[in-house]
Amino acid sequence: MTSSRFRKEDMPEPNQSKEIMDRKIEHLKIPLEYNVQHLENYFDDIKLIHHPLPEVDFEDIDLSIKFFNKKISAPICISAITGGHPVSKEINEILARSAEEENIIMSVGSQRAGIEDPALLSSFEVTREVAPNIPIIGNIGIGQVSEEKFNVESFSKCIEMIHADVMAIHLNALHELVQDKGDISYKLFRENFQKIRKKHKIPIIAKEVGTGFNRDLAMELDKLGFDGFDVGGTGGTSFAAIESKRNNFDNQKYTRDPAEIFREWGIPTPVSIIYVRSATQKLLIGTGGLKTGIDIAKSIALGADIGGFAYKFLKSAWKDRKSNSISNTLKEIRTLKNELRSCLWLMNVENIEKLKGQRNKCIILGELYKWLNQ
Ligand SMILES: Cc1cc2nc3c(=O)[nH]c(=O)nc-3n(C[C@H](O)[C@H](O)[C@H](O)COP(=O)(O)O)c2cc1C
Repeated sequence: MTSSRFRKEDMPEPNQSKEIMDRKIEHLKIPLEYNVQHLENYFDDIKLIHHPLPEVDFEDIDLSIKFFNKKISAPICISAITGGHPVSKEINEILARSAEEENIIMSVGSQRAGIEDPALLSSFEVTREVAPNIPIIGNIGIGQVSEEKFNVESFSKCIEMIHADVMAIHLNALHELVQDKGDISYKLFRENFQKIRKKHKIPIIAKEVGTGFNRDLAMELDKLGFDGFDVGGTGGTSFAAIESKRNNFDNQKYTRDPAEIFREWGIPTPVSIIYVRSATQKLLIGTGGLKTGIDIAKSIALGADIGGFAYKFLKSAWKDRKSNSISNTLKEIRTLKNELRSCLWLMNVENIEKLKGQRNKCIILGELYKWLNQ
């Protein structure tokens, strides 16, 4: 671990942008202290079809895939979680070290803090320092890209900060709506995105954060020049639930807290995977409520290329931070890989490519069936 580990429990340093830092630490702690997971997880409505006589040897199952121009050992992505606080630096270092050792994808959280306050840069930069080889996905919000004062240089800075292989622009309308002083005007987004597209060839993916993509928007963004999608559907972490715990609610003005009322709003992850896959053949990451390697297999059978996890890795990294190791995060990645390999073996599928989009290998029941047949 780095020698510069922050030890004074979670206290922001003076002269740094305190507001962003306070928010960052609250976002990390609330999902660990409260249940802010969506109530419904639609992955349980998908059953994969068992094959009693696997023809491939278990160890010969190939989980590797290509992610843009890098080969990774398995279709697993550590989703965007954090950056912009000394504790985030520790979490990002643990995640990046683990991802490097297991050769999977690592994402950083919104880099806005790093652009606005150079003192916070190291919480992002650390990822590339400890993970020189793996694909790292950078992250910036639709709010920043839509600003009137937006300039492409800030996007370039995000790329340079971590030598990003790919950038994600996160669309988090519900989150912005229910948080204090959220960015809720996106009129300039398309125009500003074109400026980015003109200047940068780096792959850019559109990413939701827990409310999912519909088909029409996926089609539009595909045409606009995005290189892929992270569906970030409902089923896992609910940002509205997080904000309701942060208590921004103005009870002088309204009788009910919108963050609580919109807690379950959005498109379930499996539905969103199917919607987006029907709109584009580009890269598709299935994130939002995945819990096991079986959920990765289900996502891939529905059309995703990769499964993404935020909450699971937040938990493992937090444990690691307490024990000054990376063992819990490594164990989690290895568990996911073993479950995914077991799943493929029991389905008699020898590699990830052969599972992709194989809707005939899954049965869809219950609420999910109803969603898809409306
Ligand atoms: C503590 C926390 C912070 C997050 N911060 C970001 C962020 O900065 N940028 C982003 O695109 N997504 C962010 N996300 C959303 C996740 O990347 C992911 O899309 C979402 O949590 C759903 O995955 P999960 O159900 O596995 O948690 C964050 C999630 C959590 C739990």
